[in-house]
Amino acid sequence: MAKLWRGVITEYFDRLDIDADTPIITLGEGGTALVHAPALAKLVGAGEVWLKVEGMNPTGSFKDRGMTMAVSKAVAHGAKAVICASTGNTSASAAAYAAKAGIKSVVLIPEGKITLGKLAQAIAHKAEILQVQGNFDDCLVLARDLSEHYAVHLVNSVNPDRLEGQKTASFEVFDALGFAPDYHVMPVGNAGNYSAYFKGYLELQQAGQIKNLPKQLGFQAEGAAPFIAGHPIAKPETIATAIRIGNPASWDLALNAQKVSGGEFDFVTDQEILSMHRWLSNEIGVFVEPSSATGAAGLLKFAKLGKVDSKAKIVITVTGHGLKDVGWALKDESGNDVEPTSCSKDAAQVAELLGLERIK
Ligand code: F0G
Repeated sequence: MAKLWRGVITEYFDRLDIDADTPIITLGEGGTALVHAPALAKLVGAGEVWLKVEGMNPTGSFKDRGMTMAVSKAVAHGAKAVICASTGNTSASAAAYAAKAGIKSVVLIPEGKITLGKLAQAIAHKAEILQVQGNFDDCLVLARDLSEHYAVHLVNSVNPDRLEGQKTASFEVFDALGFAPDYHVMPVGNAGNYSAYFKGYLELQQAGQIKNLPKQLGFQAEGAAPFIAGHPIAKPETIATAIRIGNPASWDLALNAQKVSGGEFDFVTDQEILSMHRWLSNEIGVFVEPSSATGAAGLLKFAKLGKVDSKAKIVITVTGHGLKDVGWALKDESGNDVEPTSCSKDAAQVAELLGLERIK
């Protein structure tokens, strides 16, 4: 029997707010791996840890789950163009889904602050790209303004269709494990994803499938941590450009999710993010962009503070693929460029170089 994964709308149609006659614009998003990571459980002293590897989505980030919904509904409403503000991943996703739908995409990015991989994606999918002289928060204000007054459909996560699609990640975690984790950990920028996971888990609870909601732990970068400051940050700064956001659009939703789930927000330093980014690829084999390592880095911080229960079952969402931002991987721990060693074509010499033991 054919077993093709059909994308989140078709897979979870009954649990999504979508009409039967909506044209489904899909690239086969969702169905991402939940990678069991015993080495990480050992590092943080938890019972079990899994990584929900969202870099395995079609454009390499979790954004595709929400974008399939937002673009499908935009097309249903007759939209000829979509617009978003983005630190890079939303724009890559919007551009790809708009290309699939045969409509135009406009993306507003903070000047000089998105990675080349993500910019390349938006270009490849023929988005109309504008670099705004400002940060992400300024881009979002502009995108909202344009979509309100002109014929262009907003696909940022302030559009509820985005969160509706993203909630499917919680369903997948439950489907894969057969239970909800005690904790669900993730990076927080605009706070849409944190709010979407909560929506998904809450619906599972209301349907009687899970008893307790996972406590949601959301981590921000130190220089872009409005939830920890308790107010917006005017000039957010971090090397984790995906989450370089000072005024999260889903502030109230996320705060509610944190309270009701019994979770917490905290921050990690750029250094902690970078070292966890390296550790995950070195020790688990999962290559993520630096921002995506923020959740795991936060969990390690909590472990050092004695805040991780040794029996806890924990899922960490790693949000985007490492190939989107290769610059940090190409440097060693001291910040020097890593150059592959040059060698001859002689097997004996190469074996010596590698320190291989001769067996025959
Ligand atoms: N991780 C990655 C890789 C992201 O790209 C983002 C957000 C987040 C985490 C945070 O998710 O905003 O829902 O709290 N990126 C957006 C973008 C802002 O434009 O691509 P959030």
